Amino acid sequence: MSERVSVLVTGGAGFIGSNFIHYILDRYPQYIIINLDKLTYAGNLNNLKDVSGNSNYYFVKGDISNYELVNYIFEVFQPRYVVNFAAESHVDRSIEDPGIFLRTNILGTQVLLDVAKKHWYRANNWRNGVKFIQISTDEVYGSLGPEGFFTEKTPLDPHSPYSASKASADFIVKSYFDTFKMPINITRCSNNYGPYQFPEKLIPLMINNALNHKELPVYGDGKQVRDWLYVEDHCRAIDLVMQKGKLGEVYNIGGHNEKENIYIVKKIIELLRKMTGDVKINESLIKHVKDRPGHDRRYAIDPSKIEKELHWKPEVNFDRGIVKTVSWYLNNIAWVRNVTNGEYRNYYKRMYEWR
Ligand code: NAD
Ligand code: DAU
Repeated sequence: MSERVSVLVTGGAGFIGSNFIHYILDRYPQYIIINLDKLTYAGNLNNLKDVSGNSNYYFVKGDISNYELVNYIFEVFQPRYVVNFAAESHVDRSIEDPGIFLRTNILGTQVLLDVAKKHWYRANNWRNGVKFIQISTDEVYGSLGPEGFFTEKTPLDPHSPYSASKASADFIVKSYFDTFKMPINITRCSNNYGPYQFPEKLIPLMINNALNHKELPVYGDGKQVRDWLYVEDHCRAIDLVMQKGKLGEVYNIGGHNEKENIYIVKKIIELLRKMTGDVKINESLIKHVKDRPGHDRRYAIDPSKIEKELHWKPEVNFDRGIVKTVSWYLNNIAWVRNVTNGEYRNYYKRMYEWR
């Protein structure tokens, strides 16, 4: 009989983590998934309602920085893989309050690495097949001018407390490979979009505001460029890295979908008006507001390494992905209402005054 594979997914109640858990349980029904999540404002168990009864899925509420808890999870489940999504993920919040970004994104990652090392390294050997996958971001590379792409060799040059915390974590993960030969991979992907994204990020925020006829706050001139990746394409890439990525390597993951922010906002308006017939959803809702401090101008990923080595390619182009995404939010208004209660209202009010 083959060994049972268990995967410790941290931050699995968030946007990408919950999509990843759905993806893995669909593709490998025999895998055991342990989801360790602190359930911050960004974590929501409703994202995983349909898998909560699956006997191969376990949820543990807790902090990745809690050594005893992480150690206990390793003792009980002996995970083969750790996929570390848990993070404070929003750039604007890191400008408002950097401390928690450093505690979770840097120190939390170090705790996970230490516990994994303790359990995976015995008698001068790493347990067979184990791997730690750090989910990082293209933001660690900084900002591009109008030309060129980030490759895995681009020097790190983060500009926000968020991206600085992610870059620090990347260095620490790499140091466990260099020093201890710990089996690791680091993935750096561009902006994700799709179901279950918290409505503080550009696409779901614009959808939610437009549906409520609220202003659509575009930072500065709106000509900043992001490279949009449909979340399911990202999950498939992480799975490939987890199974086949060369140890110690970094893989960039991007969607070949570079768009200006203002284009995205206008596209959302156009789609929502078509889908709802609501004429109050129009471009007069757009408001150019004060720019984000330290705002990176352009991100663009060169994904040729993962394309060549692991034969991954994004399958959902932006035109299809954005229709799927807007339709998902329209069909899940109750989810949006639920996550935009309480803390969100205070946050949104604070952000509004901040700008
Ligand atoms: P998210 O904010 O939607 O979810 C983060 C999850 O982590 C939440 O469920 C939250 O409760 C949990 N969490 C936070 N602190 C924790 C802690 N101390 N212990 C345990 N759980 C904790 O984030 P996301 O957009 O899904 O991003 C997931 C990962 O992917 C992050 O590491 C982020 O840096 C990276 N990433 C995101 C994007 C993107 O476009 N969203 C792009 C590149 C990289
Ligand atoms: O590039 C990967 C990163 O993408 C991830 O590492 C982060 O976790 C994720 O949050 C995302 O960061 P961004 O800062 O690019 O995402 P955000 O959705 O906050 O903003 C996208 C762009 O839209 C950015 O140029 C800022 C702009 N923006 C954002 C908001 C929320 C606006 O113009 N108005 C807004 O209200």
